[in-house]
Amino acid sequence: MTNKVEQLNQLKQQALQGGGKARVESQHKKGKLTARERLLLLLDEGSFEEIGMLVTHRCRDFDMENEVYLGDGVITCYGTIAGRPVYVFSQDFTVFGGSLSETHAEKIVKIMNLALQNGVPVIGLNDSGGARIQEGVVSLGGYADIFYRNVQSSGVIPQISAIMGPCAGGAVYSPAITDFILMVEHTSYMFVTGPNVVKTVTHETVSSEELGGAHTHASKSGVTHFACANEVECIENIKQLLSYMPQNCEEDAPSIAYPAGNELRLALDTLIPANPNQPYNIKDVIAELADEESFMEVHKDFAENIVVGFARIAGKSIGIVANQPAYLAGVLDINSSRKGARFVRFCDAFNIPLLVLVDVPGFLPGTDQEWHGIITNGAKLLYALSEATVPKVTVITRKAYGGAYDVMNSKHIGADLNYAWPTAEIAVMGAKGAAEIIFKKEISQAENPAGKWAEKEAEYNEKFATPYGAAARGFIDEVILPSQTRQKLIKGFTMLQNKVVKMPKRKHGNIPL
Ligand code: HXC
Repeated sequence: MTNKVEQLNQLKQQALQGGGKARVESQHKKGKLTARERLLLLLDEGSFEEIGMLVTHRCRDFDMENEVYLGDGVITCYGTIAGRPVYVFSQDFTVFGGSLSETHAEKIVKIMNLALQNGVPVIGLNDSGGARIQEGVVSLGGYADIFYRNVQSSGVIPQISAIMGPCAGGAVYSPAITDFILMVEHTSYMFVTGPNVVKTVTHETVSSEELGGAHTHASKSGVTHFACANEVECIENIKQLLSYMPQNCEEDAPSIAYPAGNELRLALDTLIPANPNQPYNIKDVIAELADEESFMEVHKDFAENIVVGFARIAGKSIGIVANQPAYLAGVLDINSSRKGARFVRFCDAFNIPLLVLVDVPGFLPGTDQEWHGIITNGAKLLYALSEATVPKVTVITRKAYGGAYDVMNSKHIGADLNYAWPTAEIAVMGAKGAAEIIFKKEISQAENPAGKWAEKEAEYNEKFATPYGAAARGFIDEVILPSQTRQKLIKGFTMLQNKVVKMPKRKHGNIPL
């Protein structure tokens, strides 16, 4: 028996070595943690339970039978984060560069199946050189097995991908299907084809960092939702992100205890500038409306004209979508529409109520926008908000013009409570442009056309650029003082907490992709 125990201990010790001391040192020298160190940081102390520690590859080509590592380059496990179960895979770059073999893929698939069957989130810590080159097509098959499960799990359990090293080629498509991607600055990159291929095909010279580093994907492509300064920050962000989510689509997100207090927010009464064209920062509004320090912004550096993120109101998770007047006047364009739509669909899939803050001058004009499909892309946000059946509350702080009024969670597309501040301007278009079109003749025939135009602009403003026309029709449920907004939201979301909407029977809708 002693021999048997010793044998087991030896095997375990061997597995814990990964690719060996030298490769672990090289990993550390690059500023990266090992796969096991990352798991220790991520999971609650003592909760780590490994699955498949003794799995080895089956490759017998290229002398691979002589190079075998227990675990085969990925640690798969379950454990808890803040007491809640999660399944995790963590790729071990010290073993064949974390590359994905047939058995490596099987290990990931095994925990993905368990996660789906048990209604538990899956987290992937990616650090891999891609397909195991020695294995050929079985590796490609392994990827496809993972992609397929990513799709089956989409909208059923939350899926989070952290990129902590290379993630290239077709391997990018598993993270791409998951709900959130986090990247670590300077040590991670994602691209379909790397700098060498790019150079050959398009003659562009570009570094890995510039082509697919965290900053690039956080600000230019929007592929990643978070760019993290280092691995520790990345892991902390994963934990915070999970705290807003339920375990699966059948559950509600966890609430945290919230002591009731004075919910008036007087600072909001003077926040909107007197000049309607002067910007202000919508994040100042969010900070007043959400529980203290509860706002976690998603996609912070991408399409900054819309702000999205999770927060809590009286301890309960909500998703916020807000036009940002401080960036491009809060206009809706292709990227902000895509960003907003994706976030709304996550919240709706996972029963997280939505708060939409509106200050939008309309859609961005121009050939660039039209030729790249503002029509299709703008429709994504309209579609996503229309199909969302979670509690939906809107607050119009200032402008709600044109089609953007409809899109931004108007009553007409199923919002439950629509509030407006007295500063709201709800109209077909801005008063200046409106006056120019409908009073064209009068203005051109006037002795002083500029004066006439200003006079007509003021007339239009007084008549339409207010919340009262919309309130008279019930499109706005109440015009409220800004300082009362938080109180209204606490009561409103409580009133809506048992909302049930039955959708027409269908296989699935056809969101304009
Ligand atoms: C097998 C691999 C490997 C791979 C790296 N290694 N990538 N082994 N298959 N794909 C091994 C190396 O041989 C090396 O082994 C160890 O991992 C570390 O690699 P280094 O090159 O020394 O590390 P580094 O300099 O940091 O460079 C990392 C890297 C580079 C940029 C990822 O290794 C690289 O370019 N690898 C190949 C990437 C690639 O072309 N993958 C296939 C893409 S196609 P030793 O023994 O020296 O430690 C693909 C298709 C997916 O992924 C399709 C899905 C649909």
